[in-house]
Amino acid sequence: MENIKKYNISDHELEIRDFTIDDLAPTFHLGEKLFTLNKTPNLYRVWDEYEVINFFQSDSDHCITAFVDGLYAGFVLGTLIEKRKSEIKYGYLVWIGVDQNYKRMGIASNLFEEFKERMTLGGATTLMIDTQADNQAAIEFFKSKGFDSPQDHVYYSMKTKNHIQGKMDEDK
Ligand SMILES: CC(C)(COP(=O)(O)OP(=O)(O)OC[C@H]1O[C@@H](n2cnc3c(N)ncnc32)[C@H](O)[C@@H]1OP(=O)(O)O)[C@@H](O)C(=O)NCCC(=O)NCCS
Repeated sequence: MENIKKYNISDHELEIRDFTIDDLAPTFHLGEKLFTLNKTPNLYRVWDEYEVINFFQSDSDHCITAFVDGLYAGFVLGTLIEKRKSEIKYGYLVWIGVDQNYKRMGIASNLFEEFKERMTLGGATTLMIDTQADNQAAIEFFKSKGFDSPQDHVYYSMKTKNHIQGKMDEDK
């Protein structure tokens, strides 16, 4: 049965509920606005249709959507990581996003609380997130939820000869 929770926030009805097949397209399009490659050049995860579909297929229990007065407003997508030969389970929040029109209303907070509850029920002992070092809104948001002890993580990139070839083709 579908899991739906309703809240009243600043005279609006907020609905936090399971991610359904109808949410695939709105989630993808909102993510396209929020996670452009320049703004969030996450090297090991790329926001595309397959990312959303894969979460829906493999982790639907940890994919949650938010609606304000019946309109799509945001999502969280995550996964429970179980390490082999270990009792420890990690709840990894991979993507969270809220439509620009509904920011600072507490929507991500409600999505996160639902995510945390589901991960805790699933046995997660630790929750993890990562974000770009210059994504101040996300950093402040995660800090406000109690995340601490940030670990430095350095990314490098290197162009291959395909990149050079691609540029030469463009210049022709
Ligand atoms: C980060 C994000 C999800 C926050 O969504 P939100 O619904 O506006 O967040 P909330 O209203 O629940 O904010 C809760 C608290 O987080 C902090 N916070 C959220 N946005 C902030 C901002 N832009 N600047 C400073 N603090 C912020 C505040 O402490 C806030 O509490 P307050 O409003 O009472 O001060 C949203 O800005 C977003 O979609 N960003 C783009 C996508 C992204 O970068 N996702 C994270 C990486 S996957």
